[in-house]
Amino acid sequence: MLVFITDDYTELSREAARMIANAIRKKPDLRVGLATGDTQRGMYRELIRMHREERLDFSRVVTFNLDEYIGLPAGHPQSFRSAMHKALFDHVNITASQIHIPGGTARDNFVEICDRYEEEIRRAGGIDLQVVGIGKDGHIGFNEPTSSLASRTRPKTLTQQTVEDNRHNFPPGQEPPATAITMGIGTILEARRILMLASGAAKAKAVALAVEGPVTASVSASALQMHRDVTVLVDREAAENLQHKDYYRKSLEMTRKLTPNRLW
Ligand code: F6R
Repeated sequence: MLVFITDDYTELSREAARMIANAIRKKPDLRVGLATGDTQRGMYRELIRMHREERLDFSRVVTFNLDEYIGLPAGHPQSFRSAMHKALFDHVNITASQIHIPGGTARDNFVEICDRYEEEIRRAGGIDLQVVGIGKDGHIGFNEPTSSLASRTRPKTLTQQTVEDNRHNFPPGQEPPATAITMGIGTILEARRILMLASGAAKAKAVALAVEGPVTASVSASALQMHRDVTVLVDREAAENLQHKDYYRKSLEMTRKLTPNRLW
């Protein structure tokens, strides 16, 4: 894992956008996996700026979102689909056929929907670069603690902690969904590169467990230790509990000198 510690959220957002933009410039038909949390908002704002001011071109990019709530009607303002349109898709040159978000209603056959999503990823040639956030409980996607490290796209029950964490995005009186469809940990690990973002003190414990703790289904993000090409981009607050910060800084310097193509 390459751990990259930034001073603050602004720098984190700029770095994340720069990494994605470089990947798109290298491979204009990049298959990119996206996350919908608050953490990525700054990164999406910066990508929009790059599209407007630096002609970053999304015309051949294909996106696969990690997850979507179950039970919200199509077009619901709090759905991840709506959030993604507002945060990014409506502001860059990407069309509906390039965008993939898992989804369904209570009447649908979820096994079919999830298998179809996996098939769409396969047919597209797999995901080149997967962006993930991390929950306070160490989840990636909505793979809550005890999710199988080999799991595939499926419906998942959210922990009460995650439901509470999501509440601020919903108007008062509206209960956040308790279930979601999410790519599995096995699905995420098949991406060629993974970029995990974390910002703020509330994520410090989960980040330390994910990066320096044992690989365990109790902390889904720890499964990223098994992947050969992961960059963990964290701001100073989220990095607070990491034991080996000096080593990560030195290691990044060494990588810049010896294997710059490992960087973005
Ligand atoms: C969202 C997702 C989640 C979030 C995580 C952190 O698509 O997959 O794993 O990345 O819950 O959310 P924020 O960034 O809102 O703290």
